[in-house]
Amino acid sequence: MTKPRILALPGSLRRASFNRGLLVAAQEILSERAVVEIFSLDEIPLYNDDVRLAGYPEPVVSLRDAAARADALLLGATEYNFAPSGVLKNAIDWASRSPDPPLQGKPFGLVGASTGGFGTVRSQLALRQILLIVQALGYPGSLHVSGAAKLFDEEGRLTDEATRQSLSDFLDGFLGFLERVGSG
Ligand SMILES: Cc1cc2nc3c(=O)[nH]c(=O)nc-3n(C[C@H](O)[C@H](O)[C@H](O)COP(=O)(O)O)c2cc1C
Repeated sequence: MTKPRILALPGSLRRASFNRGLLVAAQEILSERAVVEIFSLDEIPLYNDDVRLAGYPEPVVSLRDAAARADALLLGATEYNFAPSGVLKNAIDWASRSPDPPLQGKPFGLVGASTGGFGTVRSQLALRQILLIVQALGYPGSLHVSGAAKLFDEEGRLTDEATRQSLSDFLDGFLGFLERVGSG
């Protein structure tokens, strides 16, 4: 069987982002079983429908193409003020529009790390609602990493073994889900 291609979107532009760190760890854990592409959202401009009508900007074309090619998405659900980061919401908005909206029917999984006690639970709930509206297909499992400052090093690499095991368990379930639903 061919390996599933997973497009991983970190919800943070921060160099040592914990959410990027989770996605890097996922890439390592799945290295034999899936192709995980981490797509940085640094170059994605703020959504503007006038710009869209004039033609998608090149970084947005890259994002939409990567999403279209992928069998699934994995989002690092950075939480700001009890909500998904604007960075992530903005990317979803660009990817949600015609022609051929690449998120439609696309399976996705959510993981998230925060310094607070709830591990991005509010961001993830909101993302589920947003992605439902764009008709993406959510994996019901989730991973909430709280107290992240103690679990990652100063480069944003996941160093905590128990969290790595929880991520591995999450990914086992997510890959099983992808086998069941195909690529949407
Ligand atoms: C503007 C702002 C708002 C934040 N709001 C929350 C929040 O609502 N819940 C939470 O758990 N952490 C919150 N935090 C702390 C983040 O969890 C922390 O900055 C984390 O490192 C962000 O994710 P990242 O490591 O992927 O950049 C907030 C941080 C910032 C800068």
